[in-house]
Amino acid sequence: MKFKGKVCIVTGAYACIGRGIALGLAKQGAKVVVVDIDSDNATSVAKEIEELGTSAMAAPADITNSTQINEIISKAIEKFGKIDVLVNNVGWNKVQPFVNGNEEFWDKVLGINLKGPIICCRAVIDSMMQQNYGKIVNIASDSGRVGSTGEAVYSAAKGGVISFTKTLAREMARYKINVNCISPGPSDTPFFAAVSADNPKLMEAVKKAIPWRRLGEPEDIANAVLFLASDDADYITGQTLSVSGGLTMM
Ligand SMILES: NC(=O)c1ccc[n+]([C@@H]2O[C@H](COP(=O)([O-])OP(=O)(O)OC[C@H]3O[C@@H](n4cnc5c(N)ncnc54)[C@H](O)[C@@H]3O)[C@@H](O)[C@H]2O)c1
Repeated sequence: MKFKGKVCIVTGAYACIGRGIALGLAKQGAKVVVVDIDSDNATSVAKEIEELGTSAMAAPADITNSTQINEIISKAIEKFGKIDVLVNNVGWNKVQPFVNGNEEFWDKVLGINLKGPIICCRAVIDSMMQQNYGKIVNIASDSGRVGSTGEAVYSAAKGGVISFTKTLAREMARYKINVNCISPGPSDTPFFAAVSADNPKLMEAVKKAIPWRRLGEPEDIANAVLFLASDDADYITGQTLSVSGGLTMM
C-alpha cells in the first residue's frame, strides 16, 4: 500500500490511461481526486474507487479553465487537507497533415495538451511548496521526443510539456517537489484507434515496429506513473521515461 494516506489528483481519469492510473493509485491506498470534463464520468470513476475501500472525490472540470481548476483544487484541499500527487493525464489530438489545420485547431491542441497541464501545475504548486513535498507526473508522448507524422502541433505541445517539466523540476527541487514525464508510445486506446482508423494497415505496421510486438496497455503506463509518483522516485526529477515497448530508445 505505497500510497496509503496520499492524496492524488488525476486529470482525465475517466478513460483508458487516466482510469488505469486512478485505479492503480487507489489499489495502493491513495485518496483520489477524479478530474474529468464529464461530470457523470468523473462520478462513476469516483464510485468505483470508493468500492475499492479508499476515498475519492469527483471533480468535474475543464483543465483549460483556470477558474474551474482552482475551484476543484481548493475543494480537494478542504476535503482531504493536502495534495501529494498530481498526474496531468488529459490529452487530445486529431491526426491530419499540418497544412490541413487552422488556427482554431492549433489553439485547441495547444490549450488541452500544453496550457492545461500548466494551469493544473500552477493550481497545486503553492500547497506543495508549503508542505515541502509533492510529486508531479506529466503524461507527454513520444511524439514530443521524436515527432510523429500528422501530429505536428500535438508533438509541439508534448515537446513543450517535456521542456516545462524540466524547468519546473529545477525550480521546485528546493521544495522537494519531483516533476517528471511519462511518454507513452502507441497505446491500445480509442485515442490511438482513431489515429489508425483511416488506415487499418497502420495498426499492424506499428505493432511490427515495436520490439515488444504489441501496443501499450493502460496498466503499462499506470505502472510507470505509480513509480514516479512514489517515494521510490525521490531522487528522480526532470526526467522523461518512454513507455513504448522499446519503440523509442533514448
Ligand atoms: N493513446 C495513445 O496511444 C497515447 C500515446 C501517447 C500519449 N498519449 C497520452 O496519454 C494521455 C491519455 O491518453 P488516452 O488515450 O487515455 O486519452 P483519452 O482521450 O482516451 O482520454 C482522455 C480523458 O480526458 C478527458 N478530457 C478530455 N478533455 C478534457 C479537458 N479539457 N478537461 C478535463 N478532462 C478532459 C476525457 O473525458 C477522457 O476521460 C494523453 O495525454 C495522451 O496525449 C496517448
